Parts: sequence; C-alpha cells; structure tokens
Amino acid sequence: MSTHDCSGDCPVARRTFVKDVSVFAAALVAAGLAPRGASGAPPLMRAVSRDHADARYAIPAADGVQFDDKNEVILVRYQGHVYAFALSCPHQNTALKTDPAGGGFFCTKHESRYKFDGQFISGRATRNMDRLVIRRDGNFVVVNVDKWYESDSEPTQWASAQITL
Ligand code: FES
Repeated sequence: MSTHDCSGDCPVARRTFVKDVSVFAAALVAAGLAPRGASGAPPLMRAVSRDHADARYAIPAADGVQFDDKNEVILVRYQGHVYAFALSCPHQNTALKTDPAGGGFFCTKHESRYKFDGQFISGRATRNMDRLVIRRDGNFVVVNVDKWYESDSEPTQWASAQITL
C-alpha cells in the first residue's frame, strides 16, 4: 500500500494546497437523495472522531454525498457502497464539487467530471478520483485521511477501496 507521505518530495502538497481553497458543503445532486437541513442547505459533515490519521464517520443512512472540509474527505454512499475520496482533483488539486449538471463530481478549474464512485468521465484529468483507505467498524467507517490509492498506479487497491453494505 502506498502511503503518499509526500514529506518534502511531492511537487504539490495536496492537503496544504486544498486548505487554501474555499470548501463548501454539498449534497447529492443527481438523484436529490442527500439529506438537507431545515434551511434547505446541504449539511456539512464532520468526522465524529479523529485519532491521528483516522477519521471515523457514521455510515450514511441513505445514498448521498457529504464533505468533511476539515479532513479534506468526500464521503459517498452510492448504490450499496461507501467510498471516501480525497477532496482534491487528481489533476491539479482543485477542490471538487458535486456536478451542478448532476451525476457526480465536477472540477471547476479544467472541467473534469467524475461519477459518484470516482470514475473519470471527461475533462483534463487523467485518472479517477483518488480513494482513501477505508474500513468498516460496526456502524461506522474509519478513513485514513493520509493514505490513498491512485487508479492509474494502483488499480487493484483503488478498486477495493470501498465498503460494500
Ligand atoms: S485541476 Fe481538476 S481538471 Fe485540472
């Protein structure tokens, strides 16, 4: 497993880069399945706890997308699976948003689009969204926010980085 530590060797420290980007709350757009607060605004998810690199989230009750801006994680429940994605676009680390056209995620910088399971659809990016290491612990998922898989260099690990409900 790659840890992508990036302690001094990476040209762009993606977490540092993304911290400077305005992060937002959003919800599943395409199917309108996201939970919404009383104001109608999508909720901003927070990890229920964090121990070092691990962030712990309750398993979403329904299909939807939640952003944890503090940990730079996008948590998705979609069609019987739970995924945790790095918030930043794999092309040049711009923070991803849900696609206003529906159907997944969108990068405003070069207009890359991705499905809700992270698969690349179109745009300038050259790989799928990066999946963080995730495991189930009862009614929670535990995400290592410092370890992720890149689909082009670690396709098998990328494919298995999900929880099947
Ligand atoms: S930074 Fe997202 S497509 Fe270029």
